[in-house]
Amino acid sequence: MCGIVGYIGKRNAYPILIKGLKRLEYRGYDSAGIALLNSKNELNVYKTKGKVSNLEHFAKDKDCNGTIGIAHTRWATHGEPNQINAHPHYSESKNIALIHNGIIENYADLKENLTRKGIHFQSNTDTEVIVQLIEYLLQKNDTDLLTAVQLALSHVVGAYAIAVIDRNNPDVIVAARKSSPLVVGIGDDEFFIASDASPIVEYTKKMVFIDNEEVAYIKRGEELKIVNLNNVEIKPEIEEVMLDIGQLEKGGYEHFMLKEIFEQPACIENCMKGRVNIAHDSIKLSALIDFHDKLVGAKRIIILACGTSWHSGMIGKYLFETYCKIPVEVEYASEFRYRSNVVGENDVVIAVSQSGETADTLAAVELAKEKGAFVYGICNSVGSSIPRATHTGSYIHVGPEIGVASTKAFSGQVTVLVMLALALAKSKNAISDKDYFEIIAELAKIPEKMKKVLQMNEKIADLAKIFTYAHNFIYLGRGYCFPVALEGALKLKEISYIHAEGYPAAEMKHGPIALIDDEMPVVVIATQNALYEKVVSNMQEVKARKGRIIALISEGDEKIKDIANFCIEVPQTLECLEPLITTIPLQLLAYHIAVCKGKNVDQPRNLAKSVTVE
Ligand code: M6R
Repeated sequence: MCGIVGYIGKRNAYPILIKGLKRLEYRGYDSAGIALLNSKNELNVYKTKGKVSNLEHFAKDKDCNGTIGIAHTRWATHGEPNQINAHPHYSESKNIALIHNGIIENYADLKENLTRKGIHFQSNTDTEVIVQLIEYLLQKNDTDLLTAVQLALSHVVGAYAIAVIDRNNPDVIVAARKSSPLVVGIGDDEFFIASDASPIVEYTKKMVFIDNEEVAYIKRGEELKIVNLNNVEIKPEIEEVMLDIGQLEKGGYEHFMLKEIFEQPACIENCMKGRVNIAHDSIKLSALIDFHDKLVGAKRIIILACGTSWHSGMIGKYLFETYCKIPVEVEYASEFRYRSNVVGENDVVIAVSQSGETADTLAAVELAKEKGAFVYGICNSVGSSIPRATHTGSYIHVGPEIGVASTKAFSGQVTVLVMLALALAKSKNAISDKDYFEIIAELAKIPEKMKKVLQMNEKIADLAKIFTYAHNFIYLGRGYCFPVALEGALKLKEISYIHAEGYPAAEMKHGPIALIDDEMPVVVIATQNALYEKVVSNMQEVKARKGRIIALISEGDEKIKDIANFCIEVPQTLECLEPLITTIPLQLLAYHIAVCKGKNVDQPRNLAKSVTVE
């Protein structure tokens, strides 16, 4: 969850590292720190609690010189977020500094052993054991830094992306990874390291994604060297990474989340580009062409994901079962990986993840592969761990999502799931031509319809003012809009800290109805689809108990206007595409309520964008 960044070259490292940390702040923001090795061979470490701006302020009057440095923005796992626990951590002699993203599971044993050998620990973190162990092994074995890092990592159980600098090796950064992301950027006589491409891309497009248990030995004036823990050399695979810097800025919006909500029409167009062919009424997904038999032969689909991605997975279930006639299970990756699941060769597992780095989803992918399943990834972050671990997949191509609350990624995921379901259904002859052509034609109209929904932003902002001080919210939906209800509730709770629950509307009377009184706002997705009348009845049940109904209705629906307290009208679309339309007002409602409450919308408390620890 933390963000790491490093630089070695001819320039002053400090501004590059600070800018890099700001780009990575979405990964964690409870403390930050930097280590710089200056020309006098002094290793200066500065750390502060809170955001990168605090660190900048703290370092203002300090020596920030040095052409080699590493920096870190933290999401605390072991040890409270304070200055001492912030990274970088020094070794006992203060000759070595290290940053780390991940969790060292056996840190307590390692710490005990090192303490017995007389080493003094400063922090409560798991991370500090790595740097202390590296120095201990360096001295004990009278070896070089690279070997000491390899040895230390072979003792470590857990996940890591680390970077190490050493006063005795002033021209070297050693970096390594296992289960936490790490990329090396190759410039002109300079190198960058980071948790993802965003802090690097403005300096170089040439990047090497480091694989599990690989160590990068980065020496000034030499080529990048990659070895594994047994010192076998691996040829670096240099990739060209294309990323528009503008996508990493707020572009005039007050928050990334609002920008990303408004980007959705363009994102969906991008996601469909080259895949949906309106002129020929067809859908082409290269993964389906390359792995046709595997996918068409699936006896069962298992969708694995977490959070918002799990909600889009639920929509996938409805799509695959309706149009492909394949049974589908949707499971939280964290549950799947720790129960005795039954997965085999006839199963296709679909892993859905915006970041492509979610630890539980990645581990579930590895497990499913071990058991012989064919694994398909639906991810956003190009080159991230899940797309690299899966057999095939489709990127959603919605551009970097910076706001911690996922918005445009949800739309991209649903769009890919729609395209995959349609293409697979067609290949299996499971869908009628009428349905197939109708859905393709309507899919192409979604961006325009999304734009119409976005025009309601002001109205929704006014509505938000009325509900700013609510303590609870219930969200109800049925069919394809049940996952939308879940997603609406998740958005509200994560950024406004209001307790919110999503339910299938009919399930309400099995318990949650007891919560309804005249103070309970109930958001009902009540668009005109096959379940419309049923939802209207559920709404009447809420009204009878004086719940305050906010209804999402189809344009021109007069009937519900008489029942609900507030209505938000959305353009009508096919039922299976409704999530692409009905989720947007719920994203906006959550956003505006959080803004009214003065919350940090893009970086809500306790959360991080990429959950790389289990
Ligand atoms: O990167 P992923 O899609 O794998 O992330 C999964 C969840 O952590 C993520 O969707 C989370 O729930 C978001 N904060 C929701 O807005």
